[in-house]
Amino acid sequence: MIGPRLNQIRHWLKNISLLILSLGLLPLTTLICLASLIINRITPSTAEKRRNAARQKSPFQPKTILVTGVGMSKGLAIARSFYEAGHNVIGADFSSLACGRVSTSLSKYFTLRKPDAVRGSGAYIQDILRLVEAEDVDLWCSCSGVASAVEDGEVKEILEARTKCKAIQFNVTTTQLLHEKHSFIKHTQSIGLTVPETHEITSLDAVERALRQAPKDRKFIMKPTGMDDTHRGDMTLLPKATDKETKRHLETLSISAKCPWILQQYIKGPEYCTHALVINGAVKLFTSLPSAELLMHYAALQVDCKLDRALLEFTQKFAARAGSGFTGHLSFDFMVEEHQMDGEHSIREDADLILYPIECNPRAHTAVVLFNSTPEMAAAYLSILDAPNPTNDQNGHAENEGRVDLPIRPRLQDKYYWIGHDLVELVLQPLFAPLLLRPNNSFTDLARKLSLFFEHLVHWRDGTFERRDPLPLWWLYHVYWPMQFWMSLRTGQKWSRINVSTTKMFAC
Ligand SMILES: *[C@@H]1O[C@H](CO)[C@@H](O)[C@H](O)[C@H]1NC(C)=O
Ligand SMILES: *[C@@H]1O[C@H](CO)[C@@H](O)[C@H](O)[C@H]1NC(C)=O
Ligand SMILES: *[C@@H]1O[C@H](CO)[C@@H](O)[C@H](O)[C@H]1NC(C)=O
Repeated sequence: MIGPRLNQIRHWLKNISLLILSLGLLPLTTLICLASLIINRITPSTAEKRRNAARQKSPFQPKTILVTGVGMSKGLAIARSFYEAGHNVIGADFSSLACGRVSTSLSKYFTLRKPDAVRGSGAYIQDILRLVEAEDVDLWCSCSGVASAVEDGEVKEILEARTKCKAIQFNVTTTQLLHEKHSFIKHTQSIGLTVPETHEITSLDAVERALRQAPKDRKFIMKPTGMDDTHRGDMTLLPKATDKETKRHLETLSISAKCPWILQQYIKGPEYCTHALVINGAVKLFTSLPSAELLMHYAALQVDCKLDRALLEFTQKFAARAGSGFTGHLSFDFMVEEHQMDGEHSIREDADLILYPIECNPRAHTAVVLFNSTPEMAAAYLSILDAPNPTNDQNGHAENEGRVDLPIRPRLQDKYYWIGHDLVELVLQPLFAPLLLRPNNSFTDLARKLSLFFEHLVHWRDGTFERRDPLPLWWLYHVYWPMQFWMSLRTGQKWSRINVSTTKMFAC
């Protein structure tokens, strides 16, 4: 174990070195941004031309769209897409330093008050409602993080009841149903789709009973129901070799009615995730990709390969059976059993493909950046404005089952990375790890990481940077993150990892 003193030194070193890194790279990023701005002046980008062309078309009616969550790459990607389609985009987020605020795609930016335990959700809901009324917003595209999932459901219900504004967001009941792991699995099973064996656990006895009753060669893992970060990624397989060991492990988990867990069948095999936009039960936009616990590299599966088709089919069935008015961003995590796989990301042709959904996120997934060069994305969202009102449409459900609209897919097979993440993980950490008291580095490992970094730099695309709109990147790495590191130094709040795409800091 590392002593508290060493930990403190590490905390300072980490924050100070990242501050120095940001300062050191400031001239370079500034130069790149200026160059981009100048080039944009001389030759407008295709996206800019597309916007102008769209606005000049004669019956074109620009809509006003509110995108929340523009401090994150996913919100930014959606905002840019609406801008390029010719619409007026208003952005909002919880931080006054959100990188989206400097994007040229936004005509205005607002800082929202974050729902928290003291204030509740009232202030947040009021902020959005006022914004929608003052700016005469036609469509609210909710792209928030997990922290305001249920509040967003409340906002949707109030907005649609009181204003003409439509929302890309599920209602409260649906959001809760999908968000919570156990209710999601139960619901999925009830609509006739395959699920892994799952139990909700509130006591030690219950785990032991479930394990005793399960088929003999089946293994399980325990996951916290809520957003407990400390136990994320704990992949201990249960039952262990002996009952005693199993019991000892379970006792470390503090299982109780107040702190429920789920016990889920373990499936050995690769993990995939999907992102979809669903409007009234119809999937309008879809992509699928290989997933991992820490996902910072995004590459879509080949459109229409056997696995991609199966993932889309699952999503379509799920959405169609959810009832009318089922509108929002929908993303799933799946496991695919290993014996069905034939090498990396391709399915054996003769295999009976069984997908095991393990989680659902009723919100936008960062994979939405894969649609960056797909101008049809904005139209997919706006189709909600022409949709008949689901509450007046008794037959909406039946109609959607039979409809065979093909969803929009990413047009280009671009792969995405985040330069800040890769720079630290693939270059600085391997180079300076010995200084950070982790002397464990082989030369081949270093070489592999460096070559990976250069491959990303040359062939992949950054999730934040656009030549047309370079300032958010500059702001993210030279204002937003330095301020976070500075605050961390001042308040002494330690962090273990950060997510540059969602700008989330994991405390420890
Ligand atoms: C960053 O956030 C995205 C979206 O929530 C998530 O999929 C990804 O795993 C996170 N990455 C890390 C390194 O935490
Ligand atoms: C919430 O949405 C679901 C379908 O998405 C619908 O069946 C349900 O009636 C809605 N609930 C409320 C309270 O509006
Ligand atoms: C050191 O590196 C090796 C191989 O790269 C790895 O297997 C091992 O787990 C590492 N040890 C620590 C303490 O990180």
